[in-house]
Amino acid sequence: MELYEAIYARRITRDFKDKTISDDIIEKIINAGLQAPTHDHLRNWEFVILQNKKDKEKALQFVKTGIAPTLDILKRTLVDGTPQQKMYAIAMPRQYSMLYNASHIILPFFKSNSSVMHPTSVSSLNPLASIWCVIENIFLASTAEGLACSMRIPVGEEGINVAKTVGAPDDYLLPCYIGIGYPADDKSEVEQVEYFAKQKMHFGKW
Ligand SMILES: Cc1cc2nc3c(=O)[nH]c(=O)nc-3n(C[C@H](O)[C@H](O)[C@H](O)COP(=O)(O)O)c2cc1C
Repeated sequence: MELYEAIYARRITRDFKDKTISDDIIEKIINAGLQAPTHDHLRNWEFVILQNKKDKEKALQFVKTGIAPTLDILKRTLVDGTPQQKMYAIAMPRQYSMLYNASHIILPFFKSNSSVMHPTSVSSLNPLASIWCVIENIFLASTAEGLACSMRIPVGEEGINVAKTVGAPDDYLLPCYIGIGYPADDKSEVEQVEYFAKQKMHFGKW
């Protein structure tokens, strides 16, 4: 698949077929992630891959408790019925299933330091910014392979608890969970708010 085609086809997907991805493809996708730019040149990233049900259940046990705050957001946004609210209405009830039913869960970890959790400037967040470049590469590579990804940001203590469960060292943080699989034929489609570059470009001055 051509690069622009993958960029336009990529969508967060929350319904998957019951079909397993081969280890070779998972490795190819992680290798694409590893080509991302890195703030310290060192690519201090590690990936925990979960495939069997027991491992998935163990890692996802905190998702259920983490959903409560997001359901609050859902209730608040329900008031206006915008595309954002419609997205929440599809996404929130699927936070567990969109990961559990994916062929694989990828837990991407980045090496953190004290400035990430106590930032004094945008550059304090460089380790976090770098791992998000990795995550987007994973999304695009998955799309190019005819696959799709779900994604959840851990809330509150959820990320730390998951990291402990899978044995990650204390100085590695989990920015999100990634579910990866073959998209279901009847997957839920989220209405998009479309923007075009012409609306967003400011030549010379905002
Ligand atoms: C920083 C960030 C946090 C997100 N958190 C979640 C999440 O916790 N759960 C979820 O289902 N989707 C999450 N998403 C996915 C967004 O809902 C999705 O990207 C957005 O609705 C646009 O849809 P698209 O990615 O299919 O174009 C997140 C996306 C980003 C970039």
